Amino acid sequence: MIDSVTVQKIKDAADIVDVVSDYVHLVRRGANYMGLCPFHNERTPSFSVNKSKNFCYCFSCKKGGSPVNFIMEKEGLSYHEALLHLAKKYGIDVVEKELTDEERHAQSEREAMLVANEWALQRMHDNLFNTEDGRNIGLSYLFGRGVTEEAVRKFKLGYALDKGSDMVDAARKKGLDLEILKKLGIIGTSQDGRNYDRFRGRVIFPILNSAGKVIAFGGRDLKGGLAKYINSPESQLYKKSNELYGIYQARAEMVKQDRCYLVEGYLDVIGMWQSGIQNTVASSGTALTDGQIALIHRFTENITLIYDGDAAGVKASLRGINMLLNHNMKVKVLLLPDGHDPDSFAKEKTPEEFREYIKSHETDIVQFKAKVLLSDIKDPAKRIEAVNSMVESLAHISDPVSRDVYIQECSSIMSIPEATIAKSVNRMRGVLVEKWKKEKSLKSLQPQTADSIQTISPEIQNAQAEIANELKKEIPSQKSRETATTTIVYDSHIPLERNVIKYCIRYGFVKMCTLLDDNGNEIPLSVVEYIKEELDADHLTFKTSVYNSIFQILVSLLPVFEADFAQQIEILKQNMQISKRKGIEEIAMQDLSVSEINKAEKKLNESLEHELEEQILEFSRDYAGRQLASHEISEVRNVAIELLQEKHHLSNIYLKDNNIERVEDKLEFLVPRALTEWRSELLNNKLKEILDKLKQLSGKGDVDAELKLQQEFNAIMNVRSRVAKAIGDRVLQPAR
Ligand code: CTP
Ligand code: MN
Repeated sequence: MIDSVTVQKIKDAADIVDVVSDYVHLVRRGANYMGLCPFHNERTPSFSVNKSKNFCYCFSCKKGGSPVNFIMEKEGLSYHEALLHLAKKYGIDVVEKELTDEERHAQSEREAMLVANEWALQRMHDNLFNTEDGRNIGLSYLFGRGVTEEAVRKFKLGYALDKGSDMVDAARKKGLDLEILKKLGIIGTSQDGRNYDRFRGRVIFPILNSAGKVIAFGGRDLKGGLAKYINSPESQLYKKSNELYGIYQARAEMVKQDRCYLVEGYLDVIGMWQSGIQNTVASSGTALTDGQIALIHRFTENITLIYDGDAAGVKASLRGINMLLNHNMKVKVLLLPDGHDPDSFAKEKTPEEFREYIKSHETDIVQFKAKVLLSDIKDPAKRIEAVNSMVESLAHISDPVSRDVYIQECSSIMSIPEATIAKSVNRMRGVLVEKWKKEKSLKSLQPQTADSIQTISPEIQNAQAEIANELKKEIPSQKSRETATTTIVYDSHIPLERNVIKYCIRYGFVKMCTLLDDNGNEIPLSVVEYIKEELDADHLTFKTSVYNSIFQILVSLLPVFEADFAQQIEILKQNMQISKRKGIEEIAMQDLSVSEINKAEKKLNESLEHELEEQILEFSRDYAGRQLASHEISEVRNVAIELLQEKHHLSNIYLKDNNIERVEDKLEFLVPRALTEWRSELLNNKLKEILDKLKQLSGKGDVDAELKLQQEFNAIMNVRSRVAKAIGDRVLQPAR
């Protein structure tokens, strides 16, 4: 853990131009810098670096973000590691906790274990090529299974001689600590106290951690013995639930392809690798754990699960879904033709065919689950159970934007109204969040596996029962919905809504007007506060879900901003005092008359005041953009960066005497205008929709429905004229 003060220090020190310059040759272009994108191959620069807002962005591949984001992406590091990386670069001391004696001992033992494992690996790898048995038994088995020599070397495969105490003897000779080798499971002790090799006559698959250190071995039997695999025991080095086979060989390609393939076994990873699909790791035949997902997430958020297409494969692919969604992973699933595993499939197809097969057969896991669950289920009770399971999965998605998208998709796959699903999902999410909080406070530190997370707890059972009750009411009424005529969706408001959110992103915390409270005090309102007031009054929300998320994020940042702002003003004022003292001293040094001194001091004051105002404005203006451009939700980050980058076109109305006035100074007019344009378009669309519906109803004799629509129409007309009146001529009819 790095303490928060140091984290802030690192973030403050990390200058995006400086950080990016280590990787990209940047050229100045106006206020920004441009260069060739380091995340994809290109010939013309589309990578832009914004110094004042401290972020970078590629117009072509859309990658970028804060200095920390950049380092994470570029170096394939975790958030924590990226901070350490930057701390080192800027010479910021990160105080590591003092080690206790116990910890120091553990550390040196860990190092001894690494050395011993490395030695064992080298020896067993050599056996494959330099011993008779290694070649005749080990290597010939591997070749027989289609493993190439290149792969044998890349994955450092080995062969353990079938001699009983080959490793024991060699270790003694080498002067290695046998106790360490025992802890590592390389040697065992029999009841009569003799040491023996634990891996004998087996092909060895070394397991490397993401830094490339050997932490364990898997030994595959070649003689049809009882144990197909013997694996290293858990040790200080090896926590099975936090490791993945192949991660070291796959990590760079995972970053480059921005995707990870997950398979079951050692040979599957190697088979895929030989097919040119090198971003593959294996969970070694067990359910994925929290730690393993976090490990993958360091390199990419896209994962494709690859399973055999039989019933067991389908079941296995759905096993870890909630946990993956909970980690904000974007998950796809690929089912291979029945009876195939990735290894056998890779052998049968050319690499091109394999890749083509993946491309055309991988499906989004949430859609996959919805389809699997609903395929030919007619029984209402079973249907409700299926929907409930779907609701639970959706509730695990922590990114509100993708949650909304999936709710929409599931609604159409399962033909259940979106609002119904959304309501159930929200309720379930509430229960889950509570449950997680409780678990966290109980400090349940044991690793979660996809299986353990799926044992249903009583609170979830309760919620499911409640949701089932609600669904019962809604699901029978399905029929009437399906026959209803479709309405045209008018979405002409979207660019206007975009315009409004753009003001929030670019100027969200700038004070734009004042409000009189009941006591006649003037309260300054920022853009976000003003828009919030207006939207709340009309019960309006952003219809594009990512805009809505961005707006909610900004609203929740309001108090944070106020605190930071107060602090910033203090600092700026202190600086101003210093400059003032200096300036006054300088004036005093000059040979001036009293009235000249007064004049000079007045001028100094004015220019300092002006500078202070500018600095304050700059701070509040850039605040929203800075926060959003480094937000953890990638969709939020990307949309924000896109809107920040866009050139802001001022219309002629804001050119006065040929002077371009700054947007910052005109927000009082611009924001209400943007809001009004959007709002009236929404109202117009709503009116059009109602007219459509009325047209469809006409002649059907449903007087009640017609009357209801007519009333709705009138109500909206009223709102529209009220909106128009409130805005007045100034905004609605700009003098052209
Ligand atoms: N596994 C293991 N320990 C076992 C059994 C399996 O660690 N006792 C892991 C290994 O990573 C193995 C994977 O689960 O690669 C899949 O198991 P399995 O399909 O049985 O083995 P394969 O390696 O695929 O071997 P083969 O293709 O020869 O059956
Ligand atoms: Mn297998």
